[in-house]
Amino acid sequence: MSTLVTGIAELVTNNPRLGAGPLGLVPDAAVVVADGAVTWVGPASAAPAADRRLDVGGRAVLPGFVDSHAHLVFGGDRAVEFEARMSGQAYDGGGIASTVGATRSATDEELRARLGALVAEMRAQGTTTVEVKSGYGLSVDDEARALRLAQEVTVETTFLGAHVVPPEYAGRTDDYVELVCGPMLAACAPHARWVDVFCEPASAHAFDDEQSRAVLAAGRAAGLGLRVHGNQLAEGPGVRLAVELGAASVDHCTHLVDADVDALAGGSTVATLLPGVEFSTRSPYPDARRLLDAGVTVALATDCNPGSCFTSSMPFCVALAVREMAMTPAEAVWSATGGGAAALRRTDVGWLGVGARADLAVLEAPSYRHLAYRPGVPLARTLDLSLAT
Ligand code: NIG
Ligand code: FE
Repeated sequence: MSTLVTGIAELVTNNPRLGAGPLGLVPDAAVVVADGAVTWVGPASAAPAADRRLDVGGRAVLPGFVDSHAHLVFGGDRAVEFEARMSGQAYDGGGIASTVGATRSATDEELRARLGALVAEMRAQGTTTVEVKSGYGLSVDDEARALRLAQEVTVETTFLGAHVVPPEYAGRTDDYVELVCGPMLAACAPHARWVDVFCEPASAHAFDDEQSRAVLAAGRAAGLGLRVHGNQLAEGPGVRLAVELGAASVDHCTHLVDADVDALAGGSTVATLLPGVEFSTRSPYPDARRLLDAGVTVALATDCNPGSCFTSSMPFCVALAVREMAMTPAEAVWSATGGGAAALRRTDVGWLGVGARADLAVLEAPSYRHLAYRPGVPLARTLDLSLAT
């Protein structure tokens, strides 16, 4: 069954061979999809016939957002911690322990309901691919449970046993790293595509260079791809470690020295920026221009989590990236779609053209520019192809 999507005022393909500029823009466009994949894109005037038709009435269509960094399996919330931060308290990751407690005592049903609600929230705002991390269980059984639940909603699951040192291992970080690299990894690897580590020696709760290296090496030996939380709170080894080990992405990148930027520019690791975190922790934003001007591939993601940033909204992150990090609207939209796909090493999402998945987002607006131009307005949604007639 093929479907012709027409009435597209502006189509973002993210393929410069298919249209104008880096976003590959096609005005007055149409898209044909069949069996979950795109089979044709081009000007509406040249569109082939299809079994069904969906007219989007002069709206913009873009690839669904690829949110490559989210923590959605958790219990409780930390609204009180957020309120304290807004009165000047600094974020150091210490609050993660309270979410670990709430997550461990939640039932599968409670965790599944929260996870499902957040994924639905994302989808309603145009996100069609999401990565989901563990990291609030921090015991063998609780981490494996988080990943089994995450697998119910996405193939992009990430083992983050090395999120922080749990309370029962306080003062014994190396023992905890042994647990993470041994029995915990063995229980979790079958349910994960990626391994991640919070490499942040400046935090009393996270992991240093050597400990992070051990976690990543063990994850790689178990067949997982590598991701790193790095340089969020201070300058440190995370970015260079990620590049050296060929991680798909290093996320946060808020505090960088020239050597970090040079390493990213010379490597294959995507720099994923999470401006919702700086918004929600009242911190200085990463220097996106410095990275872009050096030729680094930049992705944008929400980091949706109950502590440092509880937003599920990629459009909000796009608006922040434009207003607060001096990205152009086109750069921000690319980073939230093509950039996220690169950060997950996916070639089937983040663009629209023959062979891409039929993951379409539609805007209540005629152009992608409106995502940043009209901040806070619910413009984006995932296009429901079942509405075709
Ligand atoms: O990406 N930095 C570490 N982890 C999360 C925050 C988790 C939390 O505060 O609950 C982050 O910001
Ligand atoms: Fe995170």
